[in-house]
This record gives sequence, C-alpha cells and structure tokens, in this order.
Amino acid sequence: MNILQINTSSRREGANSSKIASQIVEQLKARHPQATVTLRDLAVQPHPVLDEAALGALFTPAEQRTPEQAARVALDDALIAEVQAHDVIVLGVPMYNFGNSVQLKTWIDAIARAGVTFRYTESGPEGLVKGKTVYIALARGGIYRDTSNDAQVPYLKNVLGFLGMTDVRFVYAEGLAMGPEAAEKGLAQAHADIEAALL
Ligand SMILES: Cc1cc2nc3c(=O)[nH]c(=O)nc-3n(C[C@H](O)[C@H](O)[C@H](O)COP(=O)(O)O)c2cc1C
Repeated sequence: MNILQINTSSRREGANSSKIASQIVEQLKARHPQATVTLRDLAVQPHPVLDEAALGALFTPAEQRTPEQAARVALDDALIAEVQAHDVIVLGVPMYNFGNSVQLKTWIDAIARAGVTFRYTESGPEGLVKGKTVYIALARGGIYRDTSNDAQVPYLKNVLGFLGMTDVRFVYAEGLAMGPEAAEKGLAQAHADIEAALL
C-alpha cells in the first residue's frame, strides 16, 4: 500500500482537515504497517493557479514550449505522476465559504489532463486514474452532511469519478464552530466514519 496524503487547508498549522487526514493515515498504517506514506501539503508548497500563461503552456505542443512553459507543465506533470504512483489517496478538505479551498482547486486543475488522466471516447468520457481508494477528511464549521447545502461532496464525487477514482470514502468532521460540545460530537463522528471507511 502506497499512501499519498494531500493537505488542502490554507493553514499550515492547526488545520482540522489535515488532522483528520493524518488520523486516517495513522489508522491505515496500523492495519498495513508496510505501507509507505507521501505527504504533500499545499499550504506549505502552494501549486500555481491555472491562469492564462498555464493554459498557453498546456496547449502548446511539448516540442514548441519555451523553457518557462515547459517548467510550468512539469509542475502539473509531477502531481499527476504522484497520483499515479500511489494506490491510496487521503485528502484533507476544509469548507471555506460553502466550497473548497483554492489549494484543492489548484490540485484538481493540475491533475485533470485530457489524454492522460481522462479521455473522450465514442461512448463518452473515460477516467484513466483507476484502481485508487480515496479518503476525504472534511472539516466544517457547520453541519451539511446529506443536505442540499453540501456542494463539496457531490462535486468531489463527480470530478474524481470523471478521472476514474470511483472508490471515494468521506469522513465528516462537522459542527466545529458551533461550540465545544458540538465540536466534540463532530470529532467523535469523524472517528466513527474512519472506522467504518477503512480498508
Ligand atoms: C475563510 C473561512 C470560511 C469558512 N466558511 C465556512 C462555511 O461556509 N461553512 C462552514 O461550515 N464553515 C466554514 N468555515 C469554518 C471551517 O470550515 C472550519 O474552520 C474548518 O476547520 C476549516 O478547515 P481547516 O481547519 O482544515 O482549515 C470557514 C472558515 C474560514 C477560515
């Protein structure tokens, strides 16, 4: 088992989503002591946004790219190779303003590459990142589980599934900003979710 933990909180220290993601990894390690762990923290090592220059680089044929364009594409290539090289991916995912962090979006924009991580066929799109198990540690101030206000879970199922990652297991740490009792309950729920979700 090769585990890739990706922290997508804006915070380098004290992020709840990173803590829950680390707890998932610890539990996986306890069950699979031979497992290797790679950690990428996007707050520590920010990935550049998909701006006009990045799009220009991606749409320029490799042999015609300037050194700057080649360097920009190489940053995305590294994230794609990292995903391909691991069989278990653990994402720490905070909720900010009802959505995902900018850090998570940069990662998704980096790994979604036509012809590499997905392709279009005559029968529709096909995800090419197969055989992965993905755990998602959600951290939220309020409570959204199974409600229409939860835009994150449907989006993540959709985009990861599009890329071929269909085994996605969610761990909910919710109510973290609703007072100490609610926060404690939210963390207890997250621990129960981890137990239920583990390989
Ligand atoms: C800028 C910002 C926006 C937030 N927006 C929401 C929100 O829309 N809904 C919610 O339930 N919690 C919201 N929260 C609370 C976070 O979800 C909570 O603090 C969570 O722990 C963030 O994850 P992190 O600790 O991993 O960074 C927000 C927090 C911040 C800092």
